[in-house]
Amino acid sequence: MALPSKVKIVEVSPRDGLQNEKQFIDTATKVELINRLSEAGFPNVEATSFVSPKWVPQMADAAEVMAAIKRQPGTIYSVLAPNMRGFDGALAAGADEVVIFGAASEAFSQANINCSIAESIARFEPVAEAVKAAGLRLRGSISCALGCPYQGEVQPNAVVEVARRFLELGCDEIDVADTIGVGTPLRVERVMKAVTEVVDPARIAGHFHDTYGQSLANILASMQAGISIFHTSVAGLGGCPYAKGATGNVATEDVLYMLHGMGIETGIDLDAVIDIGQWISGHLGRKASSRAGNAIAARKAA
Ligand code: HMG
Ligand code: MG
Repeated sequence: MALPSKVKIVEVSPRDGLQNEKQFIDTATKVELINRLSEAGFPNVEATSFVSPKWVPQMADAAEVMAAIKRQPGTIYSVLAPNMRGFDGALAAGADEVVIFGAASEAFSQANINCSIAESIARFEPVAEAVKAAGLRLRGSISCALGCPYQGEVQPNAVVEVARRFLELGCDEIDVADTIGVGTPLRVERVMKAVTEVVDPARIAGHFHDTYGQSLANILASMQAGISIFHTSVAGLGGCPYAKGATGNVATEDVLYMLHGMGIETGIDLDAVIDIGQWISGHLGRKASSRAGNAIAARKAA
């Protein structure tokens, strides 16, 4: 299949990138990260989660973060909400898009949101209805689409089944997520093709964690299957607290370098993103895990 000429990048570092940090990151830093990302031209920034602070303490300041950010016209600010309490927080905070998050694996569903896949869908029903009634966008994220840290193998039809349910709930976009980064390109292409049988490819996003270094190849494989929305995290920040050992999402800088190098438009300023990646990594006291980011930053400094 022909590659897309334009790709939508959803920047997830403020949520997926920071949720796994052990030390609490002050609200002002989270706000500055979101503001700088919006200014760099991202069409969609995943800002925070309205989840239980007992489960994910790092996201406890979701309302404060949303109240303090400077909104860029045209940028979609997304937040995660696993239940009605989360939806109420999201609505009050003025989120543009609410993300419900399920899994293609029963074991992960239990570990992450404390219920079975079927129970999670039932819990999402009122959330989805409320999101639509409020005129907001609804996105559904499917974890463990390429493998599960607890049960191992996950079949493509398990992913398709959740995608079908999310579509019935009215999701505008559906994420196929490789939570632990185990997928390889041909398998990714197979899963993406299976999901495109039931969901319009223009509404499917690839969410790849880079634990095994496969993400860029998996993005290329996804584009070959007709996908043109990807989630990335500046400096490769991230991981899920309920997927031990899983590292961050694919680094935004690496993805932009690859896409722009292939003549694929994103509308995002790579230079600005490199500076953000170096700044936030310095703030967290570590080197950015973006190959292109570090290479370009070193060239600029020389
Ligand atoms: P539970 O313990 O079964 O539910 O958790 P509960 O209803 O009994 O609530 C427990 C406590 O949390 C109660 O407080 C509730 O009030 C409170 P207590 O009475 O004990 O003081 N509570 C809330 N507080 C604030 N906001 C809320 C909320 N809901 C309940 N919305 C629950 C079930 C779903 C709440 C919990 O399991 C949870 O919050 N899980 C979130 C897990 C999470 O955020 N994981 C990371 C995001 S998903 C991810 O990273 C994957 C993704 O990136 C894709 C990929 O890579 O795979 C998206
Ligand atoms: Mg994730």
